[in-house]
Amino acid sequence: MRKILTVALAGVLAATMLFAGCSKKEEAAIPEKIIVGTNAEFPPFEYVDDNKKIDGFDIAMMKEIAKRMDVKIEIKNMEFKSLIGSLESKTINAVAAGMTKDPERMEAVDFSDSYYTSSQVMIVKKDSKLKKMTELKGKKVGVQEGTTGDKLATGENFGEKQKPVVKGVDVRRFPKGVNAVMDLKNGGVDAVVIDEKPAMEFVKNNKGLKIVRDKAAEEYYCIALPKGNEKLVKEINKQLKAMKEDGTLDKLKAKYIDK
Ligand code: ARG
Repeated sequence: MRKILTVALAGVLAATMLFAGCSKKEEAAIPEKIIVGTNAEFPPFEYVDDNKKIDGFDIAMMKEIAKRMDVKIEIKNMEFKSLIGSLESKTINAVAAGMTKDPERMEAVDFSDSYYTSSQVMIVKKDSKLKKMTELKGKKVGVQEGTTGDKLATGENFGEKQKPVVKGVDVRRFPKGVNAVMDLKNGGVDAVVIDEKPAMEFVKNNKGLKIVRDKAAEEYYCIALPKGNEKLVKEINKQLKAMKEDGTLDKLKAKYIDK
């Protein structure tokens, strides 16, 4: 009798240990707190509002994801070009920054499914005759450093279907998109290459500018996540899918983007 009891006890103990081991691993894969890196210089996706709070579509989306995952959330504002490195050095464990999934970044991080489709446009002065991206050759072009707009103007082929490929541009890199727009207004650069919705915001807030659309390739905004954490990617995708299906994402788009 005693022997049976001992064996049974050992079994329970082993099972408990196994279970504890499992749940510990689970905890590591899904962080207790999502620390989201962003660059709040990219309205309507992220910006600092009148009360000095970081808000925007990406922020609202991440808050909803965290709520559904029942984990805490913290937003860290930093330079766009520092986001990937911060994810690699684990200062943050997610990036929501209107970040386009591109092959170079995929070497360092994993991406969630896409939550928004965009493309690059040009901002020019109202009297500019510029029509095509290829006409940027030999011109001074302002971009936000490290963005796909930077890559496009630099002549890099960042998307599978990136067209047109622009060559011979005098690229001027700025820490924020708005700095490039100010330089354009002040007669510095001839054009700014940037994502469509932020371009529309900048033009709305600055007189004398217009947007020129050429056939730039589609870009897919995704949440960047630490490389190799399949469980986290899966969990985030599950929440994104549910939010697409139940209309939450559309509601947030209506509130922030297509106001
Ligand atoms: N979509 C572009 C990229 O991935 C620009 C993103 C800029 N985002 C920002 N929060 N400043 O490079």
